[in-house]
Amino acid sequence: MQIPKQLLQRKSVEALTDVQHGLKQTLTAKDLTILGIGAVIGAGIFVLTGIAAAKYAGPAIVVSFILAGIACGLAAMCYSELAAMIPVSGSAYSYAYATMGELMAWIIGWDLILEYALASSTVAIGWAGYLTSFLENLGIHLPTYLTTAYLANPEAGFINLPAVTIILLLTGLLVIGIRQSAIFNFVMVLIKLSVIVVFIVAGSGHIQTENWANFTPFGFGGVLTGAGVIFFAYIGFDAVSTAAQEAINPQRDVPIGIIASLAVCTLLYILVAGVLTGIIPYTELNVPAPIALAVDHVGMSWLSPIIKIAAIAGLTSVMLVLLMGQSRIFFSMAKDQLLPPLFAQVHPKFQTPHLSTMLVGVAVSLLAGFMPIEKLGELVSIGTLFAFVLVCGGVWILRNSHPEMERHFKCPAVPYVPIGGILVCLSLMAGLPVDTWIRLFVWLLVGFLIYFGYGVKHSQLRSS
Ligand code: ALA
Repeated sequence: MQIPKQLLQRKSVEALTDVQHGLKQTLTAKDLTILGIGAVIGAGIFVLTGIAAAKYAGPAIVVSFILAGIACGLAAMCYSELAAMIPVSGSAYSYAYATMGELMAWIIGWDLILEYALASSTVAIGWAGYLTSFLENLGIHLPTYLTTAYLANPEAGFINLPAVTIILLLTGLLVIGIRQSAIFNFVMVLIKLSVIVVFIVAGSGHIQTENWANFTPFGFGGVLTGAGVIFFAYIGFDAVSTAAQEAINPQRDVPIGIIASLAVCTLLYILVAGVLTGIIPYTELNVPAPIALAVDHVGMSWLSPIIKIAAIAGLTSVMLVLLMGQSRIFFSMAKDQLLPPLFAQVHPKFQTPHLSTMLVGVAVSLLAGFMPIEKLGELVSIGTLFAFVLVCGGVWILRNSHPEMERHFKCPAVPYVPIGGILVCLSLMAGLPVDTWIRLFVWLLVGFLIYFGYGVKHSQLRSS
């Protein structure tokens, strides 16, 4: 019975970290924090906040942000412990390989595609929407058949060309180098952070407390559903862990990057949500660009185009970091020979996994160009929450199986924090619609077919 044993076989932490990877190590704690903020602040706050407030939570969307922030905070503690122990680019995939065996590792690696690749496509479509609207303001009109996917609108649509183009451009940047990408990301993050701070400061002078009077119009249930919806806004802080092999001092700096980026984003989200619902009645927020609407509402229309530019910059950095994360996860899976070796090739000059990056870029751009997005966001959320559950479980398992290992960052109050993380993430998953669950199972089934058709036979663990 060779195969079943292999499925449960774990890769030692030493073997995982002792791989010659050839990637360039240039990132500092500051770079990693900015990388995290780059991946996090995007479509969630710029698009979903208004819909979540209007339809589910009312002004209590602030509480939804706090709840989702707590779920992510618990997961972030667990991510930090594992990332400092196993600082490799596979992130949750590699942690699962060390703790729960090869089959579980494959499942989580396959599941992470939902978080990274699918989220990149989703955000690209949102980005294209903002760009088109911004160009309209400038009097430039792009034909609908070039801005809408055929599957989204068979009558008038053909391809979402702006979405395809931005993904291919970012892919090119990622092939050229991690340092160049980090600098570009820095500029984008600076733009979006500045505009968000301006919104909070300028908007707070226009708050009318009667807008908060009916604070929980949909009850606590609405607040919970709202938390499930805006969970999307937090996705990405874990992408810091996929850059571990490109960090100069990963054991110290990856936990800093994860926790600091999450803390900054949580604080800003709570403030934005408070100001937004304070300056405009929540009932009017069911729009795709709620922050721009709010500034128009209080006569600060000069800020509206700047907010659109910030959203375009913000979504660009989200795509950049998520695309990078996806190629790094494939890189690790290919190093373990669960995917074909071309995913692990490193460019001799640029020292980036160029083939993996290009393949991911082309696949993501095709999805963004031809697919509708309605349900993608929920699929991204369920996939990410599932990964968080396994990471929290991994910390607990490894504390028992390897108590002696040096932990450069220790998750506090184990097992309570991991158990809390598991329970909160499971309850957010439970709030998602049944068809999202079905899609998750179908996706995992496809993953099983690929694993049993390819990975199980080629796995490095088997050959060694
Ligand atoms: N958190 C990212 C966003 O909101 C995925 O766009």
